[in-house]
Amino acid sequence: MRAFLLGIVTAIVLAIGGVYLFVKSGGVSMETTAPLLPFEQTLAKMAIRASIGNAGAEKNPVPLNEANLLAGAQVFKENCAVCHSIPGGPRSNASKGMFPPPPQLFTTDEMVTDDPEGVTFWKVTHGIRLSGMPGFGATLSDIERWQVTMLVAHADKLSPAVQAALSH
Ligand code: HEC
Repeated sequence: MRAFLLGIVTAIVLAIGGVYLFVKSGGVSMETTAPLLPFEQTLAKMAIRASIGNAGAEKNPVPLNEANLLAGAQVFKENCAVCHSIPGGPRSNASKGMFPPPPQLFTTDEMVTDDPEGVTFWKVTHGIRLSGMPGFGATLSDIERWQVTMLVAHADKLSPAVQAALSH
């Protein structure tokens, strides 16, 4: 029994030591251009899903109308466009240099129009640690965060007036 326990303790110490040496010797590159680490994406997705919990069940309390979408466009221009671009706009240099790359929220296959608005609101409120996505819970009001959530949730159905508001 003692030898067995000693074996387990030795295995744990070796595993921790192995991880330490791997990181210490540069095995985990912090460069934004470095290739993905094994399991990096899987672990990150698992952690985000667990953190979000059932926030997706929360409904947008702000009524869906042009005035709120226009207000969301204003919030987006001032706080989000530098990373997420505007409809038809070019990617910023900052966005091109980031890892993970900020999704272009007005480009068809990168939109979040299928995500529950509660999930998007959670991300806008809390941010996503180690990704560059800031949390706006302390800087934008609840209404502003729901308005910008509504905007990106309807990115494929915006009126010409809202699209114009985003680009001027
Ligand atoms: C400094 C850059 C930056 C700013 C500013 C920024 N974001 Fe992000 N955002 C990111 C990055 C990077 C990700 C990707 C995170 C990931 O892949 O885990 C992201 C992810 C997201 C996502 C999730 C997309 C998906 O596919 O699940 C949403 C929604 C989002 N941002 C909305 C916003 C809104 C709304 C604002 C403004 C209020 C904003 N972001 C401001 C960098 C930024």
